[in-house]
Amino acid sequence: MNEQISGSGTGNIKRVAVLTGGGDCPGLNAVIRVVVKDMLRSGIEVVGVEDGFLGLIENRMRALVASDVEGLVSRGGTILGSNNKSNPAKFAVGKDASGKPIFADLTQRCIDHLSQRGIDAMVVIGGDGTLTSAAAFSRLGVPVVGVPKTIDNDIEGTDLTFGFQTAVDTATDALDKVRTTADSHHRAMVIEVMGRNAGWIALHAGMAGAADIILIPEIPFSMAKVAEVLRSRARDGLHSTLVCVSEGARPVDGGQIVAKVDLTSPDPIRLGGIGKSVAENIEELTGIESRYVVLGHMQRGGSPCAFDRTLCTLMGHHATGLLHARKFGRMVAIRNGELTDIALHEPAGKQRKVPLGHPMLAAARAVGTSFGD
Ligand code: F6P
Repeated sequence: MNEQISGSGTGNIKRVAVLTGGGDCPGLNAVIRVVVKDMLRSGIEVVGVEDGFLGLIENRMRALVASDVEGLVSRGGTILGSNNKSNPAKFAVGKDASGKPIFADLTQRCIDHLSQRGIDAMVVIGGDGTLTSAAAFSRLGVPVVGVPKTIDNDIEGTDLTFGFQTAVDTATDALDKVRTTADSHHRAMVIEVMGRNAGWIALHAGMAGAADIILIPEIPFSMAKVAEVLRSRARDGLHSTLVCVSEGARPVDGGQIVAKVDLTSPDPIRLGGIGKSVAENIEELTGIESRYVVLGHMQRGGSPCAFDRTLCTLMGHHATGLLHARKFGRMVAIRNGELTDIALHEPAGKQRKVPLGHPMLAAARAVGTSFGD
């Protein structure tokens, strides 16, 4: 344990900080709610860190009381704010003459802020970047527990992250909606979903929304094969086609399409544009009229679905259990349907992708879905 953090070592926890980092997702507030309620019931104070690790760097925190979390289970976003450009160990503090960011390690500053505020332990709710930072604090002796969030469902070590199911529901609803236009106008409709380098959202929503073609990063696709699927459907009298494409999908003979590069972000690449490319190529290769829809941040917004509300409450409660048991350096996880916890450093710097032997791939192929391969 780090001597600089008050209350660490063998003493009782008196004050806990909670932080939400990285891209927001549905369910963050539901986790904050259970952490605050559970801690207050045990006589432990809770401090909310504003805007993820940025608030820790800038010493922006506020006390959270019961009234702050009333009605939070169903509210999207995070009442604490979030930030996906604030890795304390590599924080952009300015730019050099050529415009490149200059980074500094502000970890010790964060530890000092925790110490000044009498914080004994932290609950860090975040995706791989935020949890990697949390693991670094843990290695330095800061008592930390992690809760895995992300719509992408790509955190190594857990079969599920909260926020994912809500995003899948949103994407499925969108597929259902564009199907009517596809049918009415005999078109191909392409929906681009998020997920970074993992195809979980596209696979789940594509299956639930009965997409005819699902394109995911794990299976590079051939545009010629995609076009052939459309032609063959037309020969069978099927004149509308739904394509669900993950933003990270790429053709066998090309790379991912990058929408933006932000060098101040720990994960500088922002993907986007493959939906447009696929729709244009379909039209060019087959002559079938095509349109595309980019779902974008719709998938991160709004109220968490019932499943995520329950998952968040279970995960948040498991996190507080870890605090009570003084089991620090752990991340809450779901493994084989069981709520459990794993070492916080286990997922650090990794991404969980769709395995090529995943049963959903075979089930999708069995109902005639093409992966463009
Ligand atoms: O990780 C969540 C996510 O929504 C990804 O699916 C997407 O690629 C990325 O974040 C978008 O990030 P930003 O909100 O910075 O555009």
